[in-house]
Formats: sequence, C-alpha cells, structure tokens
Amino acid sequence: MIELKSAGEIAAMRESGRVVAAVQAAVREAAGVGVSLKELDELARTVIQEAGAGASFFGYHPSFGAMPYPGVICTSVNGVILHGLPSPYRLRDGDLLSVDCGAFVDGWHADGAVTFTVGQARAEDLKLIRVTEETLAAGIEAAVPGGRLGDIGHAMSTVGRGAGYGMQNDFGGHGIGRAMHESPFVPNVAPRGRGMRLRPGLVIAIEPSLMAGGGDDYFMGSDGWSVCSGDGSRGAHVEHTVAITEDGPVILTVL
Ligand code: MF3
Ligand code: CO
Repeated sequence: MIELKSAGEIAAMRESGRVVAAVQAAVREAAGVGVSLKELDELARTVIQEAGAGASFFGYHPSFGAMPYPGVICTSVNGVILHGLPSPYRLRDGDLLSVDCGAFVDGWHADGAVTFTVGQARAEDLKLIRVTEETLAAGIEAAVPGGRLGDIGHAMSTVGRGAGYGMQNDFGGHGIGRAMHESPFVPNVAPRGRGMRLRPGLVIAIEPSLMAGGGDDYFMGSDGWSVCSGDGSRGAHVEHTVAITEDGPVILTVL
C-alpha cells in the first residue's frame, strides 16, 4: 500500500531530514586521513542523540542484510558502493567515502547519502561524484505530479549510464515515512512513462549509485552487508528524501 502524506506530515519529515543533513555535515568535516569509520559512526550517533532524534538504521534488519544493522550510518569506501559497515578501518589519503544516514523525529523517518573524497582527491573521483549528483538531480527533477515512477529511473540512467558509468538496479530508492522502507520501490533504471502515477503527498528516497568501471554487476561482501562493485572499481552513492507536492519536488534532507 502506498501512503500519501499530508502537508503537516511532510513538515514533520522535514525535521528528521534536517538531522540527517546535520549528521552528514559533521561526518564530512571529521572524515580526515587516519580517522576510522567506527569513529565517524560514533560521531553520527552523538549528533542524532543531541538533536533528540532516533537512528533509523541501528538494529534494522532487512532481508538483504546478514544481521541487524550494527551502526547508525553506512560508510562505503572505494569499491564498496553501498551499506559499508562502520569498521575499524582508518581512512587513507585519496579514499572515496559514501555516508548514508537515516534518522527519525516523532516517528517520521528521513534517509540521505553523500559521497566525498578524503585528503588529496583523484580527478576521476571528483568526476564520478559530480555525475552521481547530476544523476540524483535529474531523478528529483522528474519527481513531479502527473509523471510516472519510471520517469525518475529513466532520467537517472540517461545521465549516469549516458556518462559511461555502471548502475545496479537491485538497490534503489523507496517510499519513506512512518517506516524507513515503504512502497513503492523506486528503480534507478526504468522505462519512461511506466510505473505508478506520481501524486502530491508521495514521499520517496531517491538513491542512485554509480560504478566507475562501467559494468552493472555487484557482489555482496563477506561481512554480509556491503554491496561491492563487480569489477572492483570505485562507486559513488547519493540520496535525498523528496516530497512530491503540487509545486513540484521538495528536498527534505537539507539543513
Ligand atoms: N539508504 C539505504 C537504503 O535505503 C540505507 C539502508 S541501511 C540499513 O537502502 F541499515 F538501514 F539497511
Ligand atoms: Co534509502
């Protein structure tokens, strides 16, 4: 079942979106060479706590994870494209890091991810990040009343695959609200003009992930959570929680 949200409910989700953005800003600031993923997770936990919010990811156990999620953020480094566990790994110069965070306030969830470089950036990583952000922007732009769900994936794959990057389509976006994962599934790659009609009040997380090697294959890491590029190439992943309104898409995961 797809639940449409009222303006008041969307305003409530805007508060959890602000917490997600605050976590991302703090983690980005702290993510220097030598800092461990676990330390970043502890920082994120503090930011969420101090905001009076809850951590959506912690203890969450979807069918695609081997065990309940042990952290409050996903920290995906280099060839890990999604759901990287906050391990004791210490960041190295030139690493590419994606930070995915979910938070809830008054029972309303928001979910968002950013990707950035640590230390001296590689030019090819900056390009991958830029195109991944452009891919998300194209998806958001297509999230308008009267459109179809497939328009979002079509807009995104046109940008991402059009630039020669690989895009997996098993892990994509999702409805979000009282639960972090709600219907509908929001594909990263889809045919235009297909899928459910987009209506005001629909709130979705849109989250494309791109792989530098150009292939669409991935594999599950031995930790039972991390999703890794099939060819070992680097991946970038960005996500916003977006409300579809009469006036068009509104991004909720911002400060
Ligand atoms: N944004 C990711 C997703 O929707 C976050 C999931 S991490 C988990 O798949 F721990 F909550 F599973
Ligand atoms: Co998500």
